[in-house]
Amino acid sequence: MKFEGRDIVSIRDFSREEIEHIMETTRVMEPLTKRGATMLQGRTLATLFFEPSTRTRMSFESAMQKLGGNCISIADPRTSSVEKGESLADTVRTVENYADLLVIRHPLDGSARMAAEMASVPVINAGSGAEEHPTQALLDLYTIQREVGRIDGLNIAFVGDLRYGRTVHSLAYGLANYDTTIHFISPESLRVRREVIDEVGQRVKVSETRDLNEALPKVDVLYVTRIQKERIPDPEEYEKVKGTYRIALETLRNAKSSMIVMHPLPRVDEIASEVDMTSNAKYFRQMWYGLVTRMALLALCLGAVE
Ligand code: NCD
Repeated sequence: MKFEGRDIVSIRDFSREEIEHIMETTRVMEPLTKRGATMLQGRTLATLFFEPSTRTRMSFESAMQKLGGNCISIADPRTSSVEKGESLADTVRTVENYADLLVIRHPLDGSARMAAEMASVPVINAGSGAEEHPTQALLDLYTIQREVGRIDGLNIAFVGDLRYGRTVHSLAYGLANYDTTIHFISPESLRVRREVIDEVGQRVKVSETRDLNEALPKVDVLYVTRIQKERIPDPEEYEKVKGTYRIALETLRNAKSSMIVMHPLPRVDEIASEVDMTSNAKYFRQMWYGLVTRMALLALCLGAVE
């Protein structure tokens, strides 16, 4: 198992053993969020974000700094030469001179793969179109492991926009490495993509439904997602599906008391704020797990830990 110099483009590039090694490294990072470390001193991270972000970009930058490294950033492409028409390829060719690792988010599927092929330094995909968001999947797996104590044997339900939600695709691929049952719950027009269900369905049990209440009583992990308004080609279609699912206290009554509720965030209206105070709600904790997961990934890809 070798991580130094490696790109993280798709969760599918990682075996169960490698995912477990990342989670073990993440555990070691937990105490360092307070204490800090110097293992990445002198190393530079560049974050290139061509789409909005709060958590992903800031947690990567915070992770780098907590390990003693430093960061440079394009947080808003309007302030970079992209605004003058510079291509992604030329932007990557430029920034690799200034940084030891690139973290990139871009609206096009395939963008991170292209950047990784071009760059001489490791590239981490922080969201490529509607396709994948592998580091989110790793932090989601870590959240389940830490909060439930295991991943094997669980029923996981995805609810909301399963067609355009890239976090859903990556996490479903990740969960397919474990003995899990996956329930996909969505409106008809936002059903999970065929290629995802085909691949995941070869490895674990899957079901598809529109009815949240039907699936809910057996669910151990409820993974709620935002309807990806910006990726739905037809505004009328968005109007039809918005607000389809809303998780409220009432919804939880029909669920196991131990069920955990996760969300990659940002939420719009799919989880009522009254759920925040329940012991089921793990989406705030999930953000902290994101920080420690990204500390582990930076340390691994830059060769500071084995
Ligand atoms: C997600 C994303 O960007 O795909 N956010 C995140 O990284 N936590 C989810 C979303 O935007 O709905």
